Amino acid sequence: MKPYIFQNQFYSFTNMGLFGLFKKKVVLEPKDLSILKVDLHSHLIPGIDDGSPDLQTSLDLIEQFMSLGYKKIITTPHIMIDFYKNTPEIINKGLEDIRNAIAVKQWNIEIDAAAEYYTDEYFLKMIEEKNVLTFGDNYVLFELSFMQESPHFSEAIFQMQLGGYRPVLAHVERYPYWYNDYSKYKDLKDRGVLLQLNINSLSGAYSPATKKAAEHIIDEGLFDFIGSDCHHMQHLQMIDKARSLPYLHKVLDSGKLKNAELL
Ligand SMILES: [Fe+2]
Repeated sequence: MKPYIFQNQFYSFTNMGLFGLFKKKVVLEPKDLSILKVDLHSHLIPGIDDGSPDLQTSLDLIEQFMSLGYKKIITTPHIMIDFYKNTPEIINKGLEDIRNAIAVKQWNIEIDAAAEYYTDEYFLKMIEEKNVLTFGDNYVLFELSFMQESPHFSEAIFQMQLGGYRPVLAHVERYPYWYNDYSKYKDLKDRGVLLQLNINSLSGAYSPATKKAAEHIIDEGLFDFIGSDCHHMQHLQMIDKARSLPYLHKVLDSGKLKNAELL
């Protein structure tokens, strides 16, 4: 069945048809993402994590970010002691290469870099040494295992806050061990942790349960940032399609996102 298109209105994902015999999928007019201005979560530094493998790919991705309406990208390579032993020096060298290439092309986009810290002992050490890459208002993007809550989770939050950092939990909706207890999201907010959603969670790209958790977080107004978590071009193509999703409209229209404050 051809989807119905409603302009500038929010509907639930399904409206029951006559006698409930069929469902009409609601698709909205694609939203202009330029309202976000800034993306704060991506993997664009060439060859240092599971994101862009080379400079040309990074430039192709950045060009696509520009066409989606972004004005600034804060890219966040993984730092994870077992897999990606990145340092501020390694990340800043890659950032410089990208900036030089963008200057040659005279593109109107700003590129900055921080990191996506995996919550391990190495991260705790970096916090203690005050050797942490931040963005915006001393924000630190950090992530957890998808298997189980890290034993260092609470300690990391405490130490970050003690050190004057403001923790931002990456793709908070993607941790399956909280799917039976949504109260965790509110708890984290109450502890001063800012919450970042992935745009592609809203299209069900990760799992139906991830999508449901993201929608709950939006319904409760618990989010602070929304990011691309772009590793490759398919992620940006999915984001382009997600622009028609009612929940993306809802989060963009909320007035609560802090993305644009990072400009
Ligand atoms: Fe990421």
